Amino acid sequence: MNLASEATAAYADPAREESRRRDTLPDLSRFLTAEQHRIHLVGVAGSGMSGLAALLIELGHAVSGSDKATTTETDRLQRLGLRSYDQHRPEHADAAELVVFSSAIKEDNPILLAAGGSGKRLLRRAEAVAAIMQAKRGIVIAGMHGKTTTSAMTAHVLREGGLHPSHYVGAEIPILGTNAHWDPRGEYFVAEGDESDGTLRCFHPEYALILNIEEEHLDFYPDLAAIEKVFAQLIDQTSGSVLYNVDDPDTARLCAKHKRAVSYGFSKQADYRGFDVELRHFGSSFSVCRREEKLGQATLNVPGEHNVHNALGVIALATELSIPFDKITTSLRKFEHARRRFEIKYASDRFLLVDDYAHHPTEIRATLSTAKSIGRRRLLAMFQPHRFSRTKALSRKFGSAFDDADRVVITDVYAASEAPIPGISGRTILDEIMRHGHRGMSYQHRLEWVHRDVGNLLESGDLVVSLGAGNIHEALEILAADLVIAEKLKAIVGEEGEIRLYEPLSKHTTLRVGGPAQFWVEPRSECAFAEVIRFCRDEHLPLFAVGRGSNLLVRDGGIRGVVVHPWGGDFEKIEVHGCEITAGAAVKLRQVAYAARAANLGGLEWMEGIPGAVGGALRMNAGAMGAQTFENVTRIRYLDAEGNSHVKNRDELEVFYRRFPLLEKNFAIAATFRGQPAERAEIDSRLRKSQEKRRTTQPVAKSAGCIFKNPASIPAGKLVDELGLKNSRVGNARVSEVHGNFIVNDGDATAAEILQLIDNIKSVARKKRGIELETEVEIVGEPE
Ligand code: EPU
Repeated sequence: MNLASEATAAYADPAREESRRRDTLPDLSRFLTAEQHRIHLVGVAGSGMSGLAALLIELGHAVSGSDKATTTETDRLQRLGLRSYDQHRPEHADAAELVVFSSAIKEDNPILLAAGGSGKRLLRRAEAVAAIMQAKRGIVIAGMHGKTTTSAMTAHVLREGGLHPSHYVGAEIPILGTNAHWDPRGEYFVAEGDESDGTLRCFHPEYALILNIEEEHLDFYPDLAAIEKVFAQLIDQTSGSVLYNVDDPDTARLCAKHKRAVSYGFSKQADYRGFDVELRHFGSSFSVCRREEKLGQATLNVPGEHNVHNALGVIALATELSIPFDKITTSLRKFEHARRRFEIKYASDRFLLVDDYAHHPTEIRATLSTAKSIGRRRLLAMFQPHRFSRTKALSRKFGSAFDDADRVVITDVYAASEAPIPGISGRTILDEIMRHGHRGMSYQHRLEWVHRDVGNLLESGDLVVSLGAGNIHEALEILAADLVIAEKLKAIVGEEGEIRLYEPLSKHTTLRVGGPAQFWVEPRSECAFAEVIRFCRDEHLPLFAVGRGSNLLVRDGGIRGVVVHPWGGDFEKIEVHGCEITAGAAVKLRQVAYAARAANLGGLEWMEGIPGAVGGALRMNAGAMGAQTFENVTRIRYLDAEGNSHVKNRDELEVFYRRFPLLEKNFAIAATFRGQPAERAEIDSRLRKSQEKRRTTQPVAKSAGCIFKNPASIPAGKLVDELGLKNSRVGNARVSEVHGNFIVNDGDATAAEILQLIDNIKSVARKKRGIELETEVEIVGEPE
């Protein structure tokens, strides 16, 4: 059997297909609901298929299933008796009398081929669900947007109304317990009807609730007319009432013709009309009347006007089923969302993170409008387009869907088993949004970096929403987990301190390269710094200190854990007492040189030529003009790995050329330098000499100062020069033509390029001169 051709034939000749189905339906219904059989499900991990598996198990069948993926839902079903296989092998379905397949399964699936060859009965998922429904009084909820929420709401209200409904919904529904359930006690079966593959026409329900009809799934349907045709057939096959959204013109036009059409909405002509809608942050209240009769007020604890609309449909249906209005409203008040429907992932006074399944422009607009109405300061969105076909077909509509968001980060398309379409990517939508005039857009093609881009934008008062039907919620979950830690760090550094997530370290290194710091922390006091150290120890978070970043090469993958940047406050204090100058770790060496000048102290002029601050200079015993830091140090103050502070005199410290081991595991707080009384003119002359040396021998460019330590035999700069490597480059990283020991960043050089250039120089020095160059610059972080 050829599934593709069968699907096409079904579409091309619906009448023939329909008559076949109608003839076999009672039979099939009995087979599925009144007898017990062996049934195999191909693609059992899909959200719809796992629901069907649950129903079949509850109906007493011996159910097996195959899928390449496993989910928490398949794990749960296995505990209930599902025999689950992670590959599609024909032998696993050999014993099955019936094979049901998801529309995501390709026609060359080995189980389907084998089953077709042996003449085994094969069914589409929707056909199976429709046949099960046939054993009850069926209620189908259909439409482009809001079906899962509305189906769940319906099942919940019927259940609270004591009707013991069975249900089948396409997502995890915490309030219902499971996505599908067979209740032998009740008469009704509530099912979410999936319009994506034309199988809506399988259903012959007693009630249909039609939410909205719009262009969607244009990979399957040629146009809106084809979609309407399928809905028209469902409406035609509905034996009882058709409840429909009168505010949607296409829906109204199709449904109003039905002999028992009942309308709902906000329009004056609605049979069930909502009015006096008051939207609150996470809910709403509204009044309802049925024609002339006022029914009363309802409250929802799920947000957004679109949900008021959905609830009106549910109220209309439940009232038609004779559930009293006060019972309906009590249930509605208790209703909680399905997973991924405006699901709150993090909430505090400062930040709110929400995940939503919206992936069609209309849904995105509704979700963003709801999010905006919550009234936080800014609205940031991250969006993962779903399917290449939808991205292509609806790109224009996506262009205007993001107006309510202040900033949007768009990532690449979630393929959902589709083959890529040339020229279609996340950029397609970005371009449309920009054409529409929105300025706050950016594109991040790597999904695993989206949370970084959004996280780094975060400011107190922001609401972040993740949008899409793929796996963008995972990015929001990472952000939420990191935000929990970031907020604890914020509590430590207080109002005056600063915390940023995923801060690009390229902003904080003089080379201007480096990936992000997972947590960028700026304490302003020694006490806060000590507490940050203790917090990291307790939470097992790596901790790394960055000062001016002048001697630092951070790899492109950035630094995991906390990067502490002691800045401002205590760390920028500078005091002169007699011949001693005490300076905090963040004080620039140049400032020390000029403070010494002001106090007529000599011997520290060389510091003028070093771009770093005190902390970094101590850590590497930096030097220039033949001098080095510890020649002038009398004592230092530091925090140990437990956050305890210590003061040590120079004679207690072990120091080497460009190396000071104590600060490899501890953190500098301040240092005291000693100068000698000197004539101002003499000091000025030495300062000028240093400036002149720097000006004439060193490049004015983005660099990390000298890259290599000077080997004993020859200064590294001279060696590189003699090797003829000046101006040699890897990408935008280049050896300076001014000084051979400087690598300069000519533009957007990456750490990888700089590291490659360093390696090239080392290998030439080794090969040609037998000299093993050692880097002076500190290299940290993870590769990309
Ligand atoms: N030289 C060349 N070609 C070059 C570069 C240098 O022939 O391309 C020669 C110079 O003419 C000189 C000798 O090499 O005869 C040493 O050069 P330089 O005087 O510039 O000193 P350096 O040892 O290369 C050191 C520090 C610098 C500091 C200067 C100035 C090291 C590794 N570097 O450089 O510090 O600014 O002295 O006092 O000790 C830094 O640590 O980041 C840094 C820039």
